Amino acid sequence: MKTTFFYGVLFSFFALLSCNQTRQEKSTISLLPDSIYLKRGDQLVAVTFDTLRNSLLAAIRQQGFADAAKFCNERAYPLTASYATNGIILKRTSARYRNPANQPDSLEQTVLEAFQTEGSHTKLIHTPGKVHYIKPIVTQAMCLNCHGSPNTDIKPETQAALQKTYPQDKATGYAEGELRGIWHIIFPANPN
Ligand code: HEC
Repeated sequence: MKTTFFYGVLFSFFALLSCNQTRQEKSTISLLPDSIYLKRGDQLVAVTFDTLRNSLLAAIRQQGFADAAKFCNERAYPLTASYATNGIILKRTSARYRNPANQPDSLEQTVLEAFQTEGSHTKLIHTPGKVHYIKPIVTQAMCLNCHGSPNTDIKPETQAALQKTYPQDKATGYAEGELRGIWHIIFPANPN
């Protein structure tokens, strides 16, 4: 009788254990492999960057840098937001930001500091319920027209337009090939 009771308890104990295990496995399974998040992140950045860059180039061609800077401010948000479907959030931020609305949060600040000291590369960070894709943004020659040195790279009329819209602008003085900021895409960890 005692033995049956003992085995009964033992059985329930293992039943509980295995039940827990299935639950744990389930939550791990609902997370996609890192390679999928990296691929989706790369695709979203490529599409968004191309659209932003092409719209910016078109605006510069039509209106010149000073007016294009205005365009960039008015249009960058809807453009970046239009790809953010299925609960995916897409952000651009920088240690030296132009728009105060792009100020880094604490996770972004930590990554930006690490990129400055250790060099930058695309990475994934897992936090409860979220997967963060982070990719460095590096300056190209054309960026210096609005992010280089005032009055040498940036024309005085462009500088005046930037100052008017962004009196606290920190995003000048960059050279080509420098870390300008990061793309940050937040995926919900559960793909459903
Ligand atoms: C015509 C001017 C212009 C050009 C050229 C330009 N930018 Fe910008 N950039 C802006 C403006 C204006 C903002 C602020 C947009 C906003 O209000 O969110 C901005 C914002 C950014 C931000 C977001 C963080 C912040 O500082 O607020 C990043 C990152 C950025 N630019 C990178 C680049 C890169 C990389 C290039 C070149 C490929 C580039 N920009 C070319 C005008 C420009």
